[in-house]
Amino acid sequence: MTSAAMTESLRRGTRIAHIGIAVRDLDELVPFYREVLGLPEVPLDDADGAAIAGLAAGDSLVELLEARTDDSPIAKFVAKRGPGIHHVCFNVDDLDGTLEKCRAAGVRLIDETPRLGAEGKRIAFLHPSATGGVLIELSEY
Ligand code: CO
Repeated sequence: MTSAAMTESLRRGTRIAHIGIAVRDLDELVPFYREVLGLPEVPLDDADGAAIAGLAAGDSLVELLEARTDDSPIAKFVAKRGPGIHHVCFNVDDLDGTLEKCRAAGVRLIDETPRLGAEGKRIAFLHPSATGGVLIELSEY
């Protein structure tokens, strides 16, 4: 295989990795997603001061986020806006390249450089002011 072909075979394309939903009580909501919608549960570590329940919907996850500390982003979100969709995460082939493109396009970044996210992958958040009011997380495969 040529190196160009290998590079091409590693490309998977941008797709939705997970949707982060802020909840007040995981125990109250997990049964709906697991039993009623039938999404299998995927164990995930806490991140950013929130406990996370992962539920697989095909190749994407629903991540239910419950604040564990009062100063966590999820606690602030729920206090201000109530429970609901908090962010959408896209997997991208090249996180550094995508952040560079965002910068070049004048997209405001929350994370100037990638950091480790809930699934142990490199992630970065974009500011909602640049994305139609939606908090977007970018993640590497
Ligand atoms: Co996320």
